[in-house]
Amino acid sequence: METFKVGADDFLEMFDCGPGGLPPDFFAVLARMDTRHRDANNKELEEYVLALLKKINSPEIFRAKEENHDAWEKGWKENLDALSPGNKTADALKPRYYRGSKFLRYKNKLIVTDNINLEHDLFVLMRIILFRKYLLKFDDVYEFGCGSCQNLLMLSEMFPEKSLHGFDWARPSMGIIETLAGKFGKKVDGRFLDMLNPDPSTTLKPGAAIITIHALEQIGKDHGKLISFLLNSKPGIVVHCEPILEFYDPNNLLDYLAITYTEKRNYLSGFLTALLELEKQGRIEILEKRRPYLGGVVHEASLIVWRPV
Ligand SMILES: C[S@@+](CC[C@H](N)C(=O)[O-])C[C@H]1O[C@@H](n2cnc3c(N)ncnc32)[C@H](O)[C@@H]1O
Repeated sequence: METFKVGADDFLEMFDCGPGGLPPDFFAVLARMDTRHRDANNKELEEYVLALLKKINSPEIFRAKEENHDAWEKGWKENLDALSPGNKTADALKPRYYRGSKFLRYKNKLIVTDNINLEHDLFVLMRIILFRKYLLKFDDVYEFGCGSCQNLLMLSEMFPEKSLHGFDWARPSMGIIETLAGKFGKKVDGRFLDMLNPDPSTTLKPGAAIITIHALEQIGKDHGKLISFLLNSKPGIVVHCEPILEFYDPNNLLDYLAITYTEKRNYLSGFLTALLELEKQGRIEILEKRRPYLGGVVHEASLIVWRPV
């Protein structure tokens, strides 16, 4: 079967890079990656679908809010413990849920690769594009649901002069931020924040950039308070890189599975619909809403960029 590579042209197709095109650092990072892959054959597709159906129908699929919280406390504690001068910082902060998989959703297909880290490699490239395009002109960047702080670390390396702020409801995330600031000299600070119930006394610098990356899944349908909080914070831009249920096509097998998985897990739903309603009311301007068709083994993150009017 024919082998392909994910190249610069594919990213130009997936994201609107504007007249400047792809940033120079993108090419340097791409050159170090093995992006070879091929389409899954019928047997592999069967293997993938069966494993996913078993996951969807397993009793562990549903997790209560408290279980979600406990899982993150435990997960990020492992990353915090790995953060020592002997370890490469980016490796220490790579979330352990990137377990490695030969399968990946890409361009509306299931692909197979020998590089089991391809999902994370492509995620690195995507963030270079998005961070340069949307965050360049902002002095302050807030990440909601910053987790292991891998995005804050990457931002601090791309833009050492920016003030970075990480919010999360998991305590070890605050420990990671303290270490990044104290031991590694990064311009970063952090704060506890529950996105399901953001404390209105938490204030952000008006005109700043806000990002959420793979962070809203577990707020399910309960995004009303978060959206109000974002609006009240008067940001200059809000960039979401999140799985958006509205973009899936229920008549496509992979999408149907992703929809079922999302529903069973009580993951983010109605988020784009809520933002479109705000746009209709003239309260926000949506600058970008795009499905790049870039996986995820099970589902895909899409891009929504907006600002208050
Ligand atoms: C999949 S991780 C993504 C972490 C990080 N954004 C990244 O891209 O590596 C989801 C993060 O959202 C956080 N999170 C989930 N629900 C939250 C809530 N209600 N309030 C604050 N953080 C929450 C979790 O603690 C976790 O750090």
